[in-house]
Amino acid sequence: MEIENRVAIITGAASGIGHAVCLELAAKGVKAIAMVDMNDEVKVAADQINREAGREVAVPYIGDTTNEKFRANVFDSISRDNGTARICVPCAGITRDALAVKINKETGKAEIYSVDKFRQVIEVNLIAPVYWVMEMIARIAEERAQKGMKKWHPDERLQGTAIFIGSISSQGNKGQVSYASTKAGLEGAAATLTKEAIFHGVRCGVIHPGFTDTPMVRALGEEYIEKNILKDTQLGRLIRPTEIADAICFMIKNSAVSGELWADAGWHPSPA
Ligand SMILES: NC(=O)c1ccc[n+]([C@@H]2O[C@H](COP(=O)([O-])OP(=O)(O)OC[C@H]3O[C@@H](n4cnc5c(N)ncnc54)[C@H](O)[C@@H]3O)[C@@H](O)[C@H]2O)c1
Repeated sequence: MEIENRVAIITGAASGIGHAVCLELAAKGVKAIAMVDMNDEVKVAADQINREAGREVAVPYIGDTTNEKFRANVFDSISRDNGTARICVPCAGITRDALAVKINKETGKAEIYSVDKFRQVIEVNLIAPVYWVMEMIARIAEERAQKGMKKWHPDERLQGTAIFIGSISSQGNKGQVSYASTKAGLEGAAATLTKEAIFHGVRCGVIHPGFTDTPMVRALGEEYIEKNILKDTQLGRLIRPTEIADAICFMIKNSAVSGELWADAGWHPSPA
């Protein structure tokens, strides 16, 4: 699917992978990008992209991706000014890491991972991305229905592409019971939407990045990264956000690519 002249919605766009995807899409000639983030740094990021692109391509939207009204407003606003959004990459994500079960050394009692934290991670990392993508599919479906179009035909151009951000943690990672569950959950959602959304001409895929050099990973600390991450990667370094953004654009552009792409720098975790 062509990227040039399309309208894109990227969440988590103020930082890391989301920001890198926006830079890459702008360089590839996308018409407009809704840059969505709860951090108002997203304004600075959009200004920078517009300056570099030499045109008003990036539009910042500040808000919480779990808020349904905000989601609808972003889609209304970006499509009113630029046309229907046809690329959606929901990157906003959080970690709330802790062991699933841990013995409290003082009381001898087992402490179970906080259910509130689990629900928060599910809201942000699983439910929100799936709904941002379903919102794009819904708007494309409505547009086609209004033209009297039914099942998509290959003679028609592809109508849209969504790429979810999974993680190598979807295969299990100590201390990430909530995060890993959401990332594995995205696989089921994407596989289902892949089967349903092609009726409207929309493709879905999942990229599973390995440890990427973003604030989310830097928050683990240099020592942790050195001891627990780098030794298990073939590259011996963190992945660059631009490398993930490049792989995401490849998945969008190449319609023969379906399913899941592992961009993990040869991550081979040690057994437990
Ligand atoms: N960095 C990695 O190694 C790595 C690996 C695999 C997958 N991922 C995934 O890639 C995505 C991006 O991660 P990153 O490393 O760039 O992290 P990051 O922390 O640099 O960026 C995440 C952005 O999401 C925003 N955000 C979080 N919750 C939000 C919400 N509810 N509403 C709006 N904005 C919100 C934050 O403000 C932040 O700007 C996440 O889904 C993450 O799980 C990251």
